Amino acid sequence: MSGRRRAGRRTAVAAAIRHHGHIEHVPAIVTREGSTEDFDRYFDEGFAALGPESRHLRFFTAVRELPPDVRERLRNVDGYTHAAVIAFDAAAMLPDHPEGRPIGVARWIGAEHGPPELSITVIDEYQGMGVGVRLMDALLALARKRGVRRMMADVLRENIGMRHLVNRYNHVVQPSGDPVVVRYRIDV
Ligand SMILES: CC(C)(COP(=O)(O)OP(=O)(O)OC[C@H]1O[C@@H](n2cnc3c(N)ncnc32)[C@H](O)[C@@H]1OP(=O)(O)O)[C@@H](O)C(=O)NCCC(=O)NCCS
Repeated sequence: MSGRRRAGRRTAVAAAIRHHGHIEHVPAIVTREGSTEDFDRYFDEGFAALGPESRHLRFFTAVRELPPDVRERLRNVDGYTHAAVIAFDAAAMLPDHPEGRPIGVARWIGAEHGPPELSITVIDEYQGMGVGVRLMDALLALARKRGVRRMMADVLRENIGMRHLVNRYNHVVQPSGDPVVVRYRIDV
């Protein structure tokens, strides 16, 4: 990591501590592979920590509640056709949370045609602090281990944060057929 980037991160963390009010400590970000049990334990809590803007950027509509078929799809993690990585803030002490607070998730889900689809979500209070990069790095490392070579990500054109994030990795922009969606093929 370059000195400039490190300095940027420090500033971002300091800004979060100063301005957000909610995070009054320096986060300790850890990642690990996620499972269906994690979905049952943590998904609702994470979803509740997303504001309308984040829900819109992630699900392409500011959903209040996810339809049962979407929940089921996100829950069915097998580690191969559908794998997930979770990020925790181990410095956030919460009852019944031995690993800390769940703050983000990245996953690939197999598509009927073509490479699996990548998606990633960081809860609002922790956005812009490097959690997305940690999740992407961990997901791509897992993909390499499991023999996944490529992923697709459909991203709303307005989603500057996600587009910045994808730009850090090997990717090709492909036609999406929708003027508001940028389709990335990410080479693992
Ligand atoms: C998009 C998202 C996953 C990025 O995760 P994050 O933890 O906020 O991002 P990071 O702090 O790791 O930053 C990654 C890069 O994006 C940049 N970035 C992040 N948010 C940004 C924003 N709003 N505007 C400009 N740049 C931004 C960072 O500066 C960093 O750039 P760098 O690589 O040049 O240093 C997260 O903001 C999020 O969950 N958003 C809502 C849901 C969503 O959009 N999901 C993606 C749909 S597939």
